[in-house]
Amino acid sequence: MDSHMFLTDTEKAMLDGEKGEVVREALDYIIQFGDAFQAERLVDIVYCHYPAEMAIYQGSVEDVVEYSQRGGKVCVPTSNSTLCCDLERPDITGIPKELADLQSKVESAHRRMGICETYTCTPQKIGFIPPFGANIATVESSAIIYYNSVLGCRTNRGGLFTRYSAITGKYPLMGYMLTKNRRGTHLFKVNIPHEKLNAYDTLCALGFQIGSIVGSDVPVIDGIKLQCQNNIIGFGAALATSGSVTLYHIPGVTPEARTIEDAFQSATDYEVHEVTQKDIDIVYEKFNTISFGQIDFVTLGCPHYNLEQIRYVAEKLKGEKVAKGVRFWICTNRMTRKQAEYSGYLKTIEDTGALLVADTCPVESHMRSSTCREFGLTVPNVDTMITDSVKMARYVSDLIGCKTRLTDTDSCIKAAVSGRWE
Ligand code: F3S
Repeated sequence: MDSHMFLTDTEKAMLDGEKGEVVREALDYIIQFGDAFQAERLVDIVYCHYPAEMAIYQGSVEDVVEYSQRGGKVCVPTSNSTLCCDLERPDITGIPKELADLQSKVESAHRRMGICETYTCTPQKIGFIPPFGANIATVESSAIIYYNSVLGCRTNRGGLFTRYSAITGKYPLMGYMLTKNRRGTHLFKVNIPHEKLNAYDTLCALGFQIGSIVGSDVPVIDGIKLQCQNNIIGFGAALATSGSVTLYHIPGVTPEARTIEDAFQSATDYEVHEVTQKDIDIVYEKFNTISFGQIDFVTLGCPHYNLEQIRYVAEKLKGEKVAKGVRFWICTNRMTRKQAEYSGYLKTIEDTGALLVADTCPVESHMRSSTCREFGLTVPNVDTMITDSVKMARYVSDLIGCKTRLTDTDSCIKAAVSGRWE
């Protein structure tokens, strides 16, 4: 290997095979990756959110099983992302048995590798909170943007190389790990009353609008006050959906920018945009493609809900029945579902006919039209979906091909019970 990257003695020893062939090979890949982007050296990472190998991607499960058998073992705390089915109760989402059986093989592989089986897009909701300034390697755009922006960790958008970072504890010093690349590029002055921005769906719509303007740059948002964790996760997920935003700053709220000047690292050459209610209305119009009448799918939990959000839904749904012919999924991770079971929320929710689905969501499931075609499955009959998440609305319209309505959480619940969008 011909690299000009500076390596420490420890890294050189790893490259000489001191920690075995799997680690040597993984570090070699990381160095090649860094060389491609002219990284000068490697940094130590303290945490990894690992891509869950999904059975709907050809060869993905077989690959991780083989890798784990070769002795691949992570060396930093590592959680993992969503699967294509609920592994504990695969039948509830209607996934064919052979796909579910294939998917289940990742569990033992991940266990062998030392990965915590979280299978979620919101590891930050279940205790994976690295300290401010920590270098980490993560997949899942909604988690990445939260780690970078709200916690002030440093991560790029990870892909396959996340595996090699988890194995070596290393990542090339590049992209958002460099302070200079964390400088704001656009200022968004939000001119909407705070009370209106205090709802999950509205903040999602705002994020989507800003993301569609800024693309892959770094927005600085002025005019949003402190929000609860759930709202700010929805906001970030939306920013990362319309654009490919990886980092944002809200001066006085997110930790790297106390002021607008801080956010731009004293530069003055940035674009300025104003965002008003009219811009938010445009986003709702975009995702409101359902007219009044019957609906067939309602989804909450994008990104995956936490216990408080599940408690809220349970309280609202108590004693109701989901309308005949309507699927109502509330998506979360397996640990939170256990907590919900313990607290009685699982029973309250599922007595109504709704499902508390773990490990997956409609977008990641076998229901994608391309997956159905590839595996010869019947394309699910989903014509209309109601959701409080702009990310879900965007991807189900693209991947499942259904019409959508973006609305607040209470209206989603009401629609599931009535079976109609009124
Ligand atoms: Fe998570 Fe699925 Fe949304 S993976 S972020 S619930 S599209």
